[in-house]
Amino acid sequence: MWRKALAAALLALAVGYFYHASPDLSEQILQYINLPAIRSARQGQDSQPSFEHLISAAWETLITVPTRQWSRVAVGVNACVDVVVSGVGLLQALAVDPGTGLDHEVLHSKEDLREAFIHYMARGAAAERFFSDKEVFQRIARAAAEYPGAKLYVGGNAALIGQKLATYPDLMVLLCGPVGPKLHEMLDEQIVVPPGSLQETDEYHLILEYKAGEQWGSTQAPQANRFIFSHDLSNGEMSSLETFVASLEEFQPDLVVLSGLHMMEGQGKELWEERLKEAVVAISDIPKDVPIHLELASMTDKEYMNSIMQEVMPIVSSIGLNEQELLFLAQAGEGPHADLPSWKGIPDVGRVSDILLWILEQYGRSDPSSEADLTRIHFHTLAYHILATVDGYWGNQAAAVVAGAHVASTQACGIRSVDVSKVQLKAPLEFNSSHLEPKVKLFLNPTEPVTVWRRGNITFHLTPVLVCKQPLRTVGLGDAISAEGLIYSELKPQQPF
Ligand SMILES: *[C@@H]1O[C@H](CO)[C@@H](O)[C@H](O)[C@H]1NC(C)=O
Ligand SMILES: *[C@@H]1O[C@H](CO)[C@@H](O)[C@H](O)[C@H]1NC(C)=O
Repeated sequence: MWRKALAAALLALAVGYFYHASPDLSEQILQYINLPAIRSARQGQDSQPSFEHLISAAWETLITVPTRQWSRVAVGVNACVDVVVSGVGLLQALAVDPGTGLDHEVLHSKEDLREAFIHYMARGAAAERFFSDKEVFQRIARAAAEYPGAKLYVGGNAALIGQKLATYPDLMVLLCGPVGPKLHEMLDEQIVVPPGSLQETDEYHLILEYKAGEQWGSTQAPQANRFIFSHDLSNGEMSSLETFVASLEEFQPDLVVLSGLHMMEGQGKELWEERLKEAVVAISDIPKDVPIHLELASMTDKEYMNSIMQEVMPIVSSIGLNEQELLFLAQAGEGPHADLPSWKGIPDVGRVSDILLWILEQYGRSDPSSEADLTRIHFHTLAYHILATVDGYWGNQAAAVVAGAHVASTQACGIRSVDVSKVQLKAPLEFNSSHLEPKVKLFLNPTEPVTVWRRGNITFHLTPVLVCKQPLRTVGLGDAISAEGLIYSELKPQQPF
């Protein structure tokens, strides 16, 4: 370590760069950049290219395929059809009259739907509810799917990750989840769905949109938002999990991607407690040499989150999450910065780094004598991404984190390559490796836009996102980021002890 720090310091002197750090930081690799010179380029005047130009150009050379690539990836288990439709339009088509709002924990009827929709529309707040009556729900779903202007999309993290993976023609992709006829038709034809996971009806998730200022009766929406509801028992119980694990034996994947654990939360503790135990047994049946990536999603029950942390995280190799999920994890597990109620603006890199380190030390394999499998976390937030890996297990991290940021910077704008006129750098140019002590001051260098630092046995790779100024559709962006990051990641062969 001392040798590395010395080499780094010499390099800094040799190229005339500067750095600034407290003395006891020998464990850290620093990135040095000539900040004042680059600052002046920010405006992108005349001859000086903008930061966005520099980053986009540098990314092109950084996205390199790993030496060993995946050939067969199995993905499960949440999948559905998202129907996006005008909320007021649909309710009118269902012959529902406007009225006063009232929140309902669970929707039992069209009346409940109307009241809950109005309740949230009046506040411009997002909400998601379960609709308990199957028949009525199916009638509403049919009306929604046929409503003029309704848009149908592939939904569910597993299906979205599968769709992204299927854009690579050499990759065999198996998708397991509740796949109905409509979803099957919408899936990329490269995706293999085992017969056991096909079902007669689709799981529709109805997304009722409203615009800012939109009026219905005496209700007016202060801002645009959406009200989501479904009668989705298959995903709520992760009913495809056993089929998924059983189909792996024949499919022989070299990577397994798992998502949908968050769907069980809404089913109540009795169900999730039981199902989570079964899930752990099923996941443990996956051969040890096949890495498992777990994609997390929004959860609100600390007890459930804690159970996932204790029981599931140590038996997967990798997780993907965003800033809300990361903070919730710290709060549920009483980790660092658990007292922070929410992020204010762009999440502070130092705090994010502290929580990532804590997860890998607490639930991962940062100590080689640990029994845990977790060695990789792909963190994404609007302004930047971080890939944190335990040393010795993963390769090609810089390319992987950049590939994820590249997809975030393009897909949100609905394009395939970065258009610098449509994006904006929002990441901080300076940040600390930790919010606690000791910390190292780090910089973002637009010509070398991956900042690397180490803490303990863990290496962090950060790259900014070129944030789309006018995003078209951001649903499933996190899934696309994680999928892309996995494509470019490489698992290093492990030496037997
Ligand atoms: C890092 O790895 C070494 C062995 O390679 C181990 O002794 C040490 O405990 C690990 N550090 C942490 C923080 O887990
Ligand atoms: C980094 O740490 C220094 C010293 O503690 C502090 O003054 C500075 O505000 C920190 N920067 C950020 C971005 O938090």
